[in-house]
Amino acid sequence: MSNFYVTTPIYYVNDAPHIGHAYTTLLADVLARYHRLMDEATFFLTGTDEHGQKVHDAALKAGISPQQHADRTVLRFIELWKRLEVSNDGFIRTTEETHRRVVSEILRDLWERGEIYKGEYSGWYSVREERFYTEKDLVDGMSPEGTPVERVVEENYFFRMSRYQQWLIDYIDEHPEFIQPEFRRNETLGALKQPIRDLCISRPKSRMSWGIELPFDNNYVCYVWFDALVNYISGIGFRGDGEDFDRWWPASYHLIGKDILTTHTIYWPTMLQAIGLPQPRTIFAHGWWLTGEAKMSKSVGNVVDPMAMADRYGVDALRYHLLADMTLGNDASFTEEKFIRRYNADLANDLGNLASRVAKMVERSFDGVLPAPADTGADEQALEKHATAAATEMIDHVLSMSLDRGIARVLETVRETNRYFDRAAPWTLAKKGDLERLGTVLYTAAESLRVVSGLLFPVIPQKMGELRRTLGLPEEKIEPHFSELSKWGGLTPGSRLAPLSGLFPRIKKAKPAREPAAPSTETAPTEVELCEIGDVEKLGLTTAVVLDARPVEDADRLLRLEIDLGTEKRQIVAGIAKQYSPDQLVGRTIVVVANLQPAEIRGVRSNGMLLAAKKGKKLRLLTVDGETPGGWRIS
Ligand code: MSP
Repeated sequence: MSNFYVTTPIYYVNDAPHIGHAYTTLLADVLARYHRLMDEATFFLTGTDEHGQKVHDAALKAGISPQQHADRTVLRFIELWKRLEVSNDGFIRTTEETHRRVVSEILRDLWERGEIYKGEYSGWYSVREERFYTEKDLVDGMSPEGTPVERVVEENYFFRMSRYQQWLIDYIDEHPEFIQPEFRRNETLGALKQPIRDLCISRPKSRMSWGIELPFDNNYVCYVWFDALVNYISGIGFRGDGEDFDRWWPASYHLIGKDILTTHTIYWPTMLQAIGLPQPRTIFAHGWWLTGEAKMSKSVGNVVDPMAMADRYGVDALRYHLLADMTLGNDASFTEEKFIRRYNADLANDLGNLASRVAKMVERSFDGVLPAPADTGADEQALEKHATAAATEMIDHVLSMSLDRGIARVLETVRETNRYFDRAAPWTLAKKGDLERLGTVLYTAAESLRVVSGLLFPVIPQKMGELRRTLGLPEEKIEPHFSELSKWGGLTPGSRLAPLSGLFPRIKKAKPAREPAAPSTETAPTEVELCEIGDVEKLGLTTAVVLDARPVEDADRLLRLEIDLGTEKRQIVAGIAKQYSPDQLVGRTIVVVANLQPAEIRGVRSNGMLLAAKKGKKLRLLTVDGETPGGWRIS
């Protein structure tokens, strides 16, 4: 039996947790649950990062001590993980005594061995923001936030990171699994092409005192990242008296967002090498959850609150969406419409309906007692193969970190079972009184549901627990094991099925879950209806030929287009000047929303809107295949 140790970043305790934080933690949770299902000894660690400027400032604002502030705000994370059914084995806070001791011991050891030295630090310091910037961070001589900066030279302590540069390059080259996905590995290798500098690991207390004191100079505290990264080993008993550390280290996975790649793939490995510890097997960086197209951020006001989503749609609906709708490594966009569409299609329609049809028919025709299968034929055998193969394939997807594809594969079995059920037409069998065949069909469908419920249990544990109880499984079998899922025949004929009501009720409307965009625009939430076909018609999507295009004065992003809609000519204003020059547009057939209220943009009348695909700053016009004049309706 091998050991599996998975970690999440420790989150800044001063921030309210949002969907992005929830995602990394749920990803770790789901991986941990799949590894437990494979009977691996598993340890899952998460926690909070409680030192440093940000926490210090937030506490100052609240008029309490940083420790009091952390003690209060940490509860938001603890409560959220409890609510989201997160099965972490450990929760580490960097203000805990054990962690502080381990950091301090590591610092002393590195200092004594000459891995840390005292030197001069110079940089551009913003007094207002109380932080340093490098020369290349500056924008027009100011900080990126627009505050004045001054050159500061001060004495500090440095970790000899640069001495490990070549070692790190070689290590990454020799261990392709070390940084994943591959394009992130290349990103780190790219960064290592330039010489790296030694890492400044101290902050003078005179500037910021909220941190772990350097054991060899009490005028300084430890830089927050140097402290935080150590959580991955202090959280499992490094330098403790037990044997836990040797049991779990090296970690199987450090899961991180792409925003903290450098700290995890350059700082941390070199720190470990200096400490004399082996490297984690894999550092895996996932992409961001975006709100629509934008990065979630408190200052923009587009943060999605996971607690609110769980309250509104249920914990499992949220877990399912986050896990099924993100391809690991890439960014994904969070919209409630998508959330609901996916939930209704996969869970309400496909899985929920199947479960309720099977339970209802067993209730009606067999008084709720699971019948025995009699004459299993080719159809039953095919379904058995489909379902049990899903078990091995799901595990392959877990091991290759393609969870979304694993989930999709299990849903294929659900759909296959629905097709089997429809083909076998059990309602006709019931009418004809063919109870033997009916028993076979119901048992087969229920068996397939048992396998599916076990395979989806790590993703949606509440609902799949409920389904497994409904199927008559005893309490000790509610948590599934791989050995039972890759085999057919786990249900016992004659066992009693529990009644099942509305496992996944259909969601009819998208209700807004976001916090208001900004306090000044705070409005009562409005209900957003899902689109009907008529709504699409209403837009009047139409082809149009661009007759003329020219820049709008004093607006470097805007172009004024004259377009031909077949029956009329119009003027529209479009924000595409950065991506298209006028001569790239004239003569092209584009797609426009024709039924839009006219508007004045920078004093120019715009009567319609063109359509384009957009991601970040990239933009591509929607055009029409073949030679098409203006005035064709898009349907
Ligand atoms: N405290 C540091 C981490 C120290 S680990 C030794 C930190 N904390 S954080 O609160 O800012 O959390 C960052 C992590 O939260 C990201 O790496 C990612 O795992 C998660 N996410 C935050 N926003 C996110 C999205 N919008 N989308 C997906 N995950 C993101 O950095």
